[in-house]
Amino acid sequence: MTSCYLPDADATDALGAALARTRPAFAVVHLQGDLGAGKSTLARALLRALGVEGAIRSPTYTLVERYRLADGGEAWHLDLYRIGDAAELEFLGLDGDEATLWLVEWPERGRGALPPTDVTVHLRIEGEGRQADLEAHSDRGRAWLEAMAAIA
Ligand SMILES: Nc1ncnc2c1ncn2[C@@H]1O[C@H](COP(=O)(O)OP(=O)(O)OP(=O)(O)O)[C@@H](O)[C@H]1O
Ligand SMILES: [Mg+2]
Repeated sequence: MTSCYLPDADATDALGAALARTRPAFAVVHLQGDLGAGKSTLARALLRALGVEGAIRSPTYTLVERYRLADGGEAWHLDLYRIGDAAELEFLGLDGDEATLWLVEWPERGRGALPPTDVTVHLRIEGEGRQADLEAHSDRGRAWLEAMAAIA
């Protein structure tokens, strides 16, 4: 596990940029933490670092937003806070073949209907900032966190 304290939102952005720089060609990231923990901030920073321009809206009501990345890949940003049942994910027509990066907020609400996570980021409010614990759940995820630690 990789842990870091993020004293402000700029530090969250920097973590997103570091994750983006070292990201594998395909990756699933689960973002866990209470309301306001900084999940969307981190997702937005990752997407920006991967070349997404323009508005990055929170998929609170749409459940999913899709983005073309500078390298030609496609990122899917999901926020499952408002999903009633994991089965609803099927109605979104999420055929995972198109996505090269999954960023999933509230993944626990989509259990069983999501691809397995490579890296799960646990965020929690601590003082004025946020504590981030990054946990790898696959060989790909472990290699990713090692690569990120090497540039930090
Ligand atoms: N490291 C940090 N230190 C202090 N504030 C931060 C940090 N990272 C993010 N924030 C701030 O926390 C607030 C909430 O962030 P964000 O919307 O990303 O949370 P969230 O986890 O996505 O919440 P939700 O579950 O409601 O979608 C924002 O105002 C953001 O700027
Ligand atoms: Mg959010």
